[in-house]
Amino acid sequence: MIKNIGIITSGGDSPGMNAAIKTIVNYSNNNNINCYGIKYGYEGLIKGNFKKLSNFIVNNILSFGGTILGTSRSEKFKTKIGRKKAYNNIIKNKIDGLIVIGGDGTFTGAKKLYKEYKVPIIGIPGTIDNDIYGTDYTIGYDTSLNTIINNIEKIKDTAYSNNKLFIIEVMGKGLGFLALNSGISIGALDIFIPNNKKYNLKNIYNILKNWNINKYSNIIIVAENKKIGDSAKTIYKLIKQKFKNIDIRYNILGHVQRGGSPTYFDRILAINFGLESIKNLIKLKTNIVIGINNNKIIHIPFNESIKKKKKKFDKNIINIYDNIY
Ligand code: F6P
Repeated sequence: MIKNIGIITSGGDSPGMNAAIKTIVNYSNNNNINCYGIKYGYEGLIKGNFKKLSNFIVNNILSFGGTILGTSRSEKFKTKIGRKKAYNNIIKNKIDGLIVIGGDGTFTGAKKLYKEYKVPIIGIPGTIDNDIYGTDYTIGYDTSLNTIINNIEKIKDTAYSNNKLFIIEVMGKGLGFLALNSGISIGALDIFIPNNKKYNLKNIYNILKNWNINKYSNIIIVAENKKIGDSAKTIYKLIKQKFKNIDIRYNILGHVQRGGSPTYFDRILAINFGLESIKNLIKLKTNIVIGINNNKIIHIPFNESIKKKKKKFDKNIINIYDNIY
């Protein structure tokens, strides 16, 4: 029987994580289950940094960005020694099950802990990148898209007034969900997603031969590659050396894309994921990631969600892209 549970947020924070935390805490406390927040991701599990979470503590957090628990990308948890220490703390604190909120790195760690020590674990996809296989959406992606759009609209104003072309790099680990969807929504001149680290610039070179701010969009979107800033600088250099007459700037949106109060969509998604996770943990239906597919809440086995198989773009978005670009 589940009496004590732990919640962990791990990897990059994302808007809506707190809404999921609040839901899990409220449901647990209302059903006589003790809920412990583990601070700073798997690092807190290794160090034994546990804090009991009351309904009072989480009362006001639903609208906050980030995560009240803190997060980390723990190198120690990747080692057997690290996971052994984590397991000892789970036993010491009488934790019967864990809910982990994060991305594929988080689920890889969770899967190992389950495999080695049979700790009941459920995963919730929380990342702005939307790169978790098996779920249509992850917590934070919608908020991040809206933040990107709002910021680019501001850049558009200055780009238009100053007759400049902007190359804007967005996050998303090179997979390009944020780039493609934000790019289409702001009517970008072109969108670049690194394919084997290469970019096909033929199309943009053709457009730029006749580029004129009164006729064309003044924004080019690029997805980040391995290192933040690399994509924007590469495309900037390539275009600049060919079109010396165009006034070009590059801009790296950076971590502003990860912050802020979650949108309605992310709040509801997080609340649904939170509720489904705690209900299943209580039933001991574990070793799964909660997801959403065609508007239905689903369960994805850990193995499936961390498969290196690449998640595909939405067919409708691809169709729009193919027809416009
Ligand atoms: O996974 C979320 C994310 O924001 C990615 O889009 C980005 O590549 C990475 O995290 C940045 O990580 P950090 O905050 O550790 O620099």
